[in-house]
Amino acid sequence: MGSKIAIIGTGYVGLTTGACLSHLGHTVVCADVVPGKVESLSRGEVPILEAGLDELVHDGIRDGLLSFVLGAENAVGDAEFVFLCLPTPQGADGAADLSFIKEAAQQIGPYLQPETVVINKSTVPVGSAGEVAKKLERSDVHVVSNPEFLREGTAVDDFLNPDRVVIGADDRGAADRVAALYDKLPGEVLITDPASAETIKYASNAFLATKISFVNAMAAVCEEVGADVQDVVKGMGLDQRIGNRFLVPGPGWGGSCFPKDSHALVRIAENSGYQFGLLRQVIAVNEEQFGRVANKISRFARGSLEGKTIAVWGLTFKAATDDLRDSPSLNIINRLLEVGATVRAYDPAVEDASDVRLAGIEICGDPYEAASGADVLAVLTEWPEFKDLSFEKVGEVIGTKAVVDARNLLDRDAIKGLGFAYDGIGRS
Ligand code: UGA
Repeated sequence: MGSKIAIIGTGYVGLTTGACLSHLGHTVVCADVVPGKVESLSRGEVPILEAGLDELVHDGIRDGLLSFVLGAENAVGDAEFVFLCLPTPQGADGAADLSFIKEAAQQIGPYLQPETVVINKSTVPVGSAGEVAKKLERSDVHVVSNPEFLREGTAVDDFLNPDRVVIGADDRGAADRVAALYDKLPGEVLITDPASAETIKYASNAFLATKISFVNAMAAVCEEVGADVQDVVKGMGLDQRIGNRFLVPGPGWGGSCFPKDSHALVRIAENSGYQFGLLRQVIAVNEEQFGRVANKISRFARGSLEGKTIAVWGLTFKAATDDLRDSPSLNIINRLLEVGATVRAYDPAVEDASDVRLAGIEICGDPYEAASGADVLAVLTEWPEFKDLSFEKVGEVIGTKAVVDARNLLDRDAIKGLGFAYDGIGRS
């Protein structure tokens, strides 16, 4: 028989965790503070684009294993496990802001059954398990760290096929109980102390960001020496000690995790007396990359962007998600807008042009409409469907045949064959 679980927070992580745990046979109650969200989720309406999630939410509700309530205190009364899946935004000093987590812990404390295990799923600074325990004010409940390693867009698959499940607990019994929730899943279970589990999460995201900044820096070298970064990565990746994953050059990394977590780790290290120069440089290389892509676009626009029209394909921070948070595309677009360009953009997942993050951008309903009359076309998100678009058609509508392919996504030779000027990342 499954366990009784409460999930506090129905964002990307909370909703995926809740739906997947109900899929594994547990009874899950998810709480949120937004009444409209609770109502629509109760009807099975999933507010985010996440492959496979609609189906799991629908099945969970149908089987009576998944429900949604307003207010954390209304979810936890029967729970044996409570997952805290709340935002930890970047505070003014770069550190993660723990206030949502602490507030929720304080709120649920009085309603918990003895021996409940409260689980930090959100990415939280080292030492947060102790902070949560203090706020709960319950010596008869356990606090365990169980970080998530879910990528947006493939979160359901990542949850159900994990490389590893990391559990940080001071109490071995509580750790084993959490491990048992995942016993139907593949992947190694690593049980450690809370500080190590919390550090594993930061170290993993920082290392992945480091790989991407490394390859983007190598791409810059390739451009200078006339090498092709695609072949360089292939050659590196065949060395099994290196591998080729997370070495895809692009416009820089973004999203809701890498930027915030890398800054937070710099801060965590600094607060403990270590100057994490390497990670600072990884962040700096990423900022530089946004600028490098903006420069490529302005070079094709013959230097000045004042009064020029730039077509952009892709606004989300990566493909397969509708998430615009810290999107490299938006960072680059803002650099173009600042110097007087007009930006006409198309993204298959972005329909709501009223989103404040899209201010100043003309949102188009189709990619050819965006390209129409443009001085340069920039591909900033790697939506696979962009590969299938007709560049003959683009050639007929665009003002100047010039493409900056910041994801090295397109068929470079075919496009050049049609008379376009082409520039990629680390290959031209
Ligand atoms: C990331 C991690 O991959 C997850 O393991 C982690 O659980 C999650 O953060 C989190 O902390 O919650 P996510 O933010 O969804 O997941 O996105 P990624 O797929 O990691 O991509 C991050 C950024 O790096 C994107 O802008 C993407 O386009 C870029 N990227 C990724 C590259 O430029 N090159 C690559 O090779 C891979």
